[in-house]
Amino acid sequence: MTDRRQFLRIAALGGLAGATTMLAPRALADSNVQHEMRAPESLPGNPAGDAAAGYRPPQKYGAGGTQIGNMFFETSDDTAEAMLQAQWDAGVRYFDTSPWYGLGLSERRLGHFLDGQKRSDYMLSSKVGRLLTPDASMDSHGIWAGDLNFNYRYDYTAAGVRRSVEDSLQRLGVPSLDMVFIHDLAPSNKDLDDYGAQLKTAIEGAMPELTKMREEGLIKGWGMGVNDIEPSLAALDNAEPNVILQATRYTLMNHEDALERLFPKCEAQGCSVVIGAPLGAGFLAGKDRWLYGDDTPQGYPEKRARISEIARQHGTDLRTAALQFTAAPKIVSATIPGARDAKQARENAASMRATIDPAFWQALKDEGLIAEAAPTALDTSA
Ligand SMILES: NC(=O)c1ccc[n+]([C@@H]2O[C@H](COP(=O)([O-])OP(=O)(O)OC[C@H]3O[C@@H](n4cnc5c(N)ncnc54)[C@H](OP(=O)(O)O)[C@@H]3O)[C@@H](O)[C@H]2O)c1
Repeated sequence: MTDRRQFLRIAALGGLAGATTMLAPRALADSNVQHEMRAPESLPGNPAGDAAAGYRPPQKYGAGGTQIGNMFFETSDDTAEAMLQAQWDAGVRYFDTSPWYGLGLSERRLGHFLDGQKRSDYMLSSKVGRLLTPDASMDSHGIWAGDLNFNYRYDYTAAGVRRSVEDSLQRLGVPSLDMVFIHDLAPSNKDLDDYGAQLKTAIEGAMPELTKMREEGLIKGWGMGVNDIEPSLAALDNAEPNVILQATRYTLMNHEDALERLFPKCEAQGCSVVIGAPLGAGFLAGKDRWLYGDDTPQGYPEKRARISEIARQHGTDLRTAALQFTAAPKIVSATIPGARDAKQARENAASMRATIDPAFWQALKDEGLIAEAAPTALDTSA
């Protein structure tokens, strides 16, 4: 751990050349060198070549994978395929999924779509922590609608993580993943027995194994994929994640905790952040739903109405503001909203290309609607 951190510090201070003598060639695969693929012009990109900035997909924008796993309600194969095609046509080249999303369905559908694309043309992340087992009796489960055919068990051991990645490759029909996130290892996951014990298992099993896979060149980045901040901080304290998927804790509505506690630590340790659920699972796109069965916090509808009104006055809209807000911090390497269909995919990509008047952000700060310290200027030039 020390070697890598030293490397990142020296690379940041003195340029890559001075640091390369410290590490064996294998470790250079672990040095957050940017993906070779070029970002399509129209979507905001990540600045290339900053070795201390954590692992980064070339675009600051990617496609979420829960809707094609039938989250909340069923999505047809045709709608799923059309949504993915619209993402691709809009220039999106980063796709996130998980074995958990529809118990394999999201990975199967995404794999089917990506079968028509060259592997070197896109980036892919999936998750580990749940292994799937065939089960004909599995009907809908939790937020996953429709027949599932698979059950699951938690496994954050080293062997479980290897097996999970191999299973994902089979379902996706691809030879490699770019990023792997340790999924839902979080106190707010009430389905998980004994968070503390599972975290210990991951610290001793999943985390070193993923670091090994990164050093072997099998993956380029790993981190937590969680809805709480504590597990992300624990991973940074105990291992070497280089990209964390932080969901539900950095949105227009709620962001202080991530700004104050997570982002500085990530920055200090050379770890970038992918933002999951940037629309609060639909709330910031006008849906009558905050996250995944959670109660809508008091004051949120009023706050949303006021932000929408100020957005209208400044020639923008709530969804555009919500998406660009999550991508603005330098530490953020991508925001990954989920789209239900082709129309939503096109609208969200258009939001990422829009220009927002800086006076809009100032107006939100003046009214205390967002944190004074929150970065708001999205650099679309990289
Ligand atoms: N623990 C983790 O690792 C974790 C947790 C959460 C999310 N994630 C990742 O982050 C991704 C995004 O999260 P999410 O999909 O749950 O939530 P989200 O992106 O915040 O919201 C997605 C929902 O917003 C609505 N929406 C999106 N675009 C819209 C548009 N243009 N117009 C109207 N409504 C629109 C849709 O609702 P309807 O479907 O009702 O139309 C859609 O299902 C996930 O897909 C997943 O890849 C990871």
